[in-house]
Amino acid sequence: MKQFQVQKKQFVEGEVRALQSGHLREGEVTLKVDKFAYTANNVTYAVAGNMIGYWQFFPATSDRGVTEWGVIPVWGFADVIESSHKEIPVGDRLFGYFPPATHVVMRPAKVSEHQWLDSSEHRRCLPTAYNMYRRVANEPGYNRAFDNARMIFWPLHMTAFCIVDALEMHDWRGAEQIIILSASSKTSLGLAIGLHNMAEGPKAIGITSSKNLETTKDLGVYDELHTYDDLSGIDMSKPVVIVDMSGSISTVNKLIDSMGDQLKYVIQVGLTHWDQAGQKLNIEKGKSEFFFAPGHMQVRIKEWGGAEFNEKVSAYIQNSVAKISRWMSYEKVEGLDGLMAIHKDVCMGNIPANKGLVVEM
Ligand SMILES: NC(=O)c1ccc[n+]([C@@H]2O[C@H](COP(=O)([O-])OP(=O)(O)OC[C@H]3O[C@@H](n4cnc5c(N)ncnc54)[C@H](OP(=O)(O)O)[C@@H]3O)[C@@H](O)[C@H]2O)c1
Repeated sequence: MKQFQVQKKQFVEGEVRALQSGHLREGEVTLKVDKFAYTANNVTYAVAGNMIGYWQFFPATSDRGVTEWGVIPVWGFADVIESSHKEIPVGDRLFGYFPPATHVVMRPAKVSEHQWLDSSEHRRCLPTAYNMYRRVANEPGYNRAFDNARMIFWPLHMTAFCIVDALEMHDWRGAEQIIILSASSKTSLGLAIGLHNMAEGPKAIGITSSKNLETTKDLGVYDELHTYDDLSGIDMSKPVVIVDMSGSISTVNKLIDSMGDQLKYVIQVGLTHWDQAGQKLNIEKGKSEFFFAPGHMQVRIKEWGGAEFNEKVSAYIQNSVAKISRWMSYEKVEGLDGLMAIHKDVCMGNIPANKGLVVEM
């Protein structure tokens, strides 16, 4: 068994470690990880590893202990290759949250035809959305041809769906335009597409780096696009909500300072520019929030029920992926050694915006 581990404090540095596998206990299953996506979202799991608890999902199992080394979770597919759980057969294929590792042991609970939860001791207090595994072979019409799109876009455009929904719930907070930072990220693109589809929705204005400007323009999902170093073209006289995927607080503060009363609200979602994180927003209390998609999901699942929630999210993601797929290409990364080779580039933002990395084991 092998696992890709990073230094928690220097997560740009990582290495593949060989680990000893133990005996399967009653009620456990061994999963062989098949493939997973790798985007800035995974880097953010490392940035916020201690703050939100992402290091707890898959403790780095090694002789070096779990204090200094951590495992960054990934979204992907795995197959059951060994089972001592009476309801889970060998061969079951799962979609969900995995370690970047060849294998992982889990303890299924609340098993139904379509899903189960990993009830391993160390995960019990972590959000349900991350502990849930879909039994994809039991889904009507499941097709492996869509695995890549699902791994990359399901967690990101689920978040986009939740942000649009949260904004709409609050009548867009009175905004006529939504400014989206780190506009070339896949989460932002999903949000811009969702805003475009709202008949009476606000305009989507993107802010991106000069190097990602043209590629992002090509997709054509923003009403306007600007770069971090030139915000002068933005109309500051209209009511605005800022959705920040970047964590570039200096840019957000520049916008806040220029907008005065027209700034209605700031939603902090991501940290793609993680090296600029840590400063404080120049904004009065009650006009900003940290957005955590699993929290919003839980609220809506309670209100709508799981089936209705899944239906709405699926429709949203099918539409957004259809728009993006003509623009994006998938790039195969070969196993954990391939992951180790590209990890630094993902951390430093060196992957072209229209590329989707898929690690195949
Ligand atoms: N709160 C939640 O529940 C939630 C859920 C899902 C995602 N998110 C967050 O949304 C963000 C976007 O994730 P994603 O997977 O969609 O990203 P992605 O598609 O991999 O985004 C890549 C883009 O991020 C920017 N970037 C990445 N690394 C950078 C670096 N080191 N320096 C400068 N720019 C960098 C660049 O965009 P620009 O040039 O346009 O800035 C780049 O084109 C992440 O922070 C993620 O954690 C949050």
